[in-house]
Amino acid sequence: MERRRLGASELEVPVVVFGAWAIGGWNWGGTDDEAAQAALRRGLDLGMTAIDTAPVYGFGHSEEVVGRALRGRRAEAQILTKAGLRWDDTRGEKAFEGRTPDGRPLTLYKNSRPDSIRTEVERSLGRLGVESLDLLQIHWPDATTPIAETMGVLVELHAEGKIRAVGVSNYGPAQMEEAAEALGSVPLASNQPRYSLIRREIEADVLPYARRHDVGLIVYSPLEQGLLTGKVPAERTFPESDGRARRPSFRADNRARVNRVLDDVLKPMAARYDVSLAQLSLGWVLAQEGVTAVIAGARTADQVEENAGAAGLRLESEDVALLRTTFEGLDLDLGPL
Ligand SMILES: NC(=O)c1ccc[n+]([C@@H]2O[C@H](COP(=O)([O-])OP(=O)(O)OC[C@H]3O[C@@H](n4cnc5c(N)ncnc54)[C@H](OP(=O)(O)O)[C@@H]3O)[C@@H](O)[C@H]2O)c1
Repeated sequence: MERRRLGASELEVPVVVFGAWAIGGWNWGGTDDEAAQAALRRGLDLGMTAIDTAPVYGFGHSEEVVGRALRGRRAEAQILTKAGLRWDDTRGEKAFEGRTPDGRPLTLYKNSRPDSIRTEVERSLGRLGVESLDLLQIHWPDATTPIAETMGVLVELHAEGKIRAVGVSNYGPAQMEEAAEALGSVPLASNQPRYSLIRREIEADVLPYARRHDVGLIVYSPLEQGLLTGKVPAERTFPESDGRARRPSFRADNRARVNRVLDDVLKPMAARYDVSLAQLSLGWVLAQEGVTAVIAGARTADQVEENAGAAGLRLESEDVALLRTTFEGLDLDLGPL
């Protein structure tokens, strides 16, 4: 699979990265660890060697499953994890309300305090069973901690060899600039924002900034959590423990509009290229200048195989443009990011 350098760092990642949120189980209606291990190993076999995870994905579970799958194969992989979203510490900025797997109320806090980041990194190393992380990303900006303080501890962890590259996630241009300045000679390797045919907010500012300043972009939810795969017909239901049961994009009206466009425009185009809808949707994101890689979430080896197949797709510029205007014309009521 094609690989690209992440910004000005020394880290190289494949253009399709394995997204390990769903295999944590939480907010995805549970998980099957055997299927997850098989999916991760199939990814390695196909060159999908970078794995994006986070402590909060299943409250440690995703990192543990990734660690088990990588036993004996650590050298092949790039582990991209995160810090800065805590469920077990009430300092910082209130971020999200939810429920634990056993139904208790849960509040997540954006917490990028240096001591908290250091603690999280040590715990991630332990759960993953590794000596170092290839990329550590600050999960969300935390308005209660100066960015320079957070970057300070990342520079230390980099010097100690615990993290090989530094990234951020969900940062705007001004926040990226502040981070890059505070990092000094350590490059800001990447930002991880949301981006898909349906959610193109980053085109206004994050994408141009990243292109200008050589910050890599590894983008999340490129399949809109399955909506763009054609596998979410009107009758598909999600359990309460799956966030998609509540997400505006999955509401019946939005789903119907998206599915109509998938049928009318994307299916004939996909047939011309001999690819699936998922591959076409991933291919469109990869065709955008400034996008380094897509993070495609998956739970099974079959999904991984399909998503990996998007890496070789080269869309004609007229088709890239047609897909853009088609989705621009859709009147979707999506709510906040
Ligand atoms: N930094 C952040 O704040 C942030 C936020 C969100 C995500 N992320 C990262 O980005 C990754 C990807 O985003 P995401 O998981 O939200 O969304 P996504 O990649 O757009 O969608 C993933 C889901 O789509 C379905 N799917 C995947 N491949 C498929 C295929 N080939 N055919 C049919 N269905 C398929 C699977 O769900 P089912 O099988 O259940 O249908 C899968 O769990 C995450 O895993 C995580 O690593 C980061």
